[in-house]
Order: sequence, then C-alpha cells, then structure tokens
Amino acid sequence: MSIYTQSMLKDDALKDKVIIVTGGGSGLGKAMTKYFLQLGAKVTITSRNLEKLQNTAKELEAETGGTVFCVSCDVRNWDEVEAMKEAVLKEFGKIDVLLNNAAGNFISPTERLTHSAFDSVLDIVLKGTKNCTLSVGKHWIDSKTPGTVLNIVTTYAWTGSAYVVPSACAKAGVLAMTRSLAVEWAKYGIRFNAIAPGPFPTKGAWERLLPGDLVEKFDMTKKVPLRRVGDHQELANLAAYLVSDFSAYINGEVVTIDGGEWLQGAGEFNMLEAIPQEMWDQLEAMIKAKKSS
Ligand code: HXC
Ligand code: NAP
Repeated sequence: MSIYTQSMLKDDALKDKVIIVTGGGSGLGKAMTKYFLQLGAKVTITSRNLEKLQNTAKELEAETGGTVFCVSCDVRNWDEVEAMKEAVLKEFGKIDVLLNNAAGNFISPTERLTHSAFDSVLDIVLKGTKNCTLSVGKHWIDSKTPGTVLNIVTTYAWTGSAYVVPSACAKAGVLAMTRSLAVEWAKYGIRFNAIAPGPFPTKGAWERLLPGDLVEKFDMTKKVPLRRVGDHQELANLAAYLVSDFSAYINGEVVTIDGGEWLQGAGEFNMLEAIPQEMWDQLEAMIKAKKSS
C-alpha cells in the first residue's frame, strides 16, 4: 500500500473541531469528511439531497464511529445557508471550520450555453461559496471566535480552461476571495486557504466532464507527469492539515495537488517529453554543429 493512501495526521488532530463540508455527501467532500471524522472532528455535511446525505452519514458513522450531522441546503440560496448555519450552531454550539467544496460543472462549448446554464454553475460555485463564507464569517466576527475556511478550487482557476468556462470564471472568483479575505479577516483570527486538485476520479465529476467513452479517449493519467490520477486519501490528508491548527501560519495559500498536471500543459517545451532518450545524442550533435554558423 502506498504511503499516500494512509492517514497522515495523528489520531486526535481534529479532536472536537466542528466542521461544515458543503457537498459532503459524495466524491471528494465525502472522502474529506471521512478523514476528518477519523481525526476526531464533528462534521456537518450539506447538499441539496438530504437522502444522499443521510446514507453517507450512516456509512461514515459506522466506519469511523464519528458524529455526522446532515442539513439540506442549496448553497445558492442565502436563507437556506443562514438556516444551515443556525442548525449547526444549535446542534454543536460552535463552528470551527467551513469547507467550501460544493460545485457544479459540465463540459460544453460556451456558445451552446443558455444564460441560465452559465448562471447555474456560477451560482453554485461562486455565489454559493460567497453565501457560506459571509454567513459563517459574520457569525465568527460577531461572536469574536476564530475560524478557518478552506476552499476547493481547480488549477484552471488561474490558467482558465476552454469548455468549462463558467466553472473557470467561478473558481477564479473563489481564489480571489480566498486571497482577499485571508488579508482582510486575519485580524478576526479567520484563516483562508484553498486546494487546487488535479484529476481525482469521482462519479460527479467524471459523469459530467468525461461522459461516455471520453474517459477512454482522454486518458487523464497521460496529462500528469507522475502518470497517475490522485488518490482521495492524499487530498484528505492535505485538507485535514490545512483545517487543523498545525497549519496555523498558512494563510492565503492555494496548494496545488495535481502530480504536476497544469505545469505539463504550460511549459513551452514540455512537448519534448515525446523525444525518445536515444534521440538526444543526435539532437545534441545537430545543435553543436550549428555553433559556428
Ligand atoms: C448544456 C446544460 C448541461 C449540459 C445542464 N445544462 N447541463 N447545458 N450542456 N451538459 C443547462 C440546463 O439545460 C439548464 O438550462 C441549466 O443548465 C441548469 O440545469 P439544471 O439541470 O436545471 O440545473 P441544476 O439542477 O441546478 O443542476 C446544476 C448542474 C448539474 C451544474 C447543471 O450538473 C449539477 O447538479 N451538478 C452538481 C455536481 C457537479 O457538477 N459535480 C461535478 C463537479 S466537478 P436552462 O436554460 O434550462 O436553465 C468539478 C471538477 C473540476 O468542478 C476539475 C476537474 C479536473
Ligand atoms: P461531486 O461528488 O459531484 O461533488 C459536488 C457536490 O456539490 C455534490 O455533493 C453536490 O451534492 C454538491 N452540490 C452541487 N450543487 C449544490 C448546491 N447548489 N448546493 C449545495 N450542494 C451542492 O464532485 P467532486 O469531484 O467530489 O467535486 C468536489 C469538489 O472538488 C468541487 O469543488 C470540484 O470543483 C472540486 N474538484 C474536483 C476535481 C476532481 O477531479 N474530482 C478536480 C478539481 C476540483 P447535491 O447534488 O446533493 O447537491
């Protein structure tokens, strides 16, 4: 078993921390929730689908012996977000961490999108993150309690990406919010960080980004210098560290966890990776021969 598929932090690293994970019923949110529970946290998972949340909660409580609280909440709706915050405070008496993980995304040529299709992604990712951050942040500030926000973005938050333009715009906004509030709200004891994952296969993402046989046509491992996709536990390890007090001096950072994927796409001469080793003697000789010309 590879070391990165194992727990990284000590058992009580998140003991008694109260953590909200938006979109915690599936995919990466579920994986991070599981690890937070193993480290002693009490976790609230939220999304639009209460039944899904309850099934996840049952499964994770049985696996970890931890405490999961489920709240149905569409992050696009301010009143639902406020009600979710109040429900968490009633249940646990405090909130220590907000993990903005909920997202919507699908591939499409941008000219095919209706204005409301564009909005649906912007609203979940950017407005949803804003709603949760403002709601929980105001509570922390008013009650003079410290807090930590972790936002899940993507590497195309800074490069942009064709065919997922609403998501790229929204994630760029979330990254700007992360860095802006890391400075503005530090005086209240509130830290902000982000994680930019590369490809970590989940049902939710793969069904919408690599539907049908696209998953075979576009082998994601080929885009990654390390030639593999991410393991959910290695993302959970990073997230747990960033929401724990061990990372107390990290503020305003975005940590990329993508096996080098975005840099492979960015470097001017990275295509030379395709040159076989044995050709390099010949190429060197050709270049040296040009020295005097
Ligand atoms: C064009 C589409 C579309 C598609 C939906 N729409 N899918 N348009 N191509 N494939 C349009 C609809 O026709 C509708 O337009 C509008 O978008 C809203 O769609 P609804 O289904 O009514 O919206 P809603 O139920 O709110 O669902 C939101 C959603 C959906 C984003 C469309 O996919 C969703 O629920 N996603 C949540 C989970 C998710 O996306 N997970 C993946 C995250 S992955 P009209 O004009 O009728 O309003 C991720 C990874 C990034 O972010 C990086 C990977 C490496
Ligand atoms: P996922 O399982 O589809 O997770 C998205 C979650 O968001 C779902 O649980 C969904 O639950 C919830 N959600 C969607 N709309 C919502 C709304 N309006 N209100 C509340 N919750 C809502 O996909 P995932 O791959 O785990 O993605 C998790 C995060 O990682 C996202 O931020 C994504 O952008 C990011 N990410 C993923 C990858 C990857 O390779 N998987 C790469 C980079 C970044 P409901 O449908 O029940 O509401």
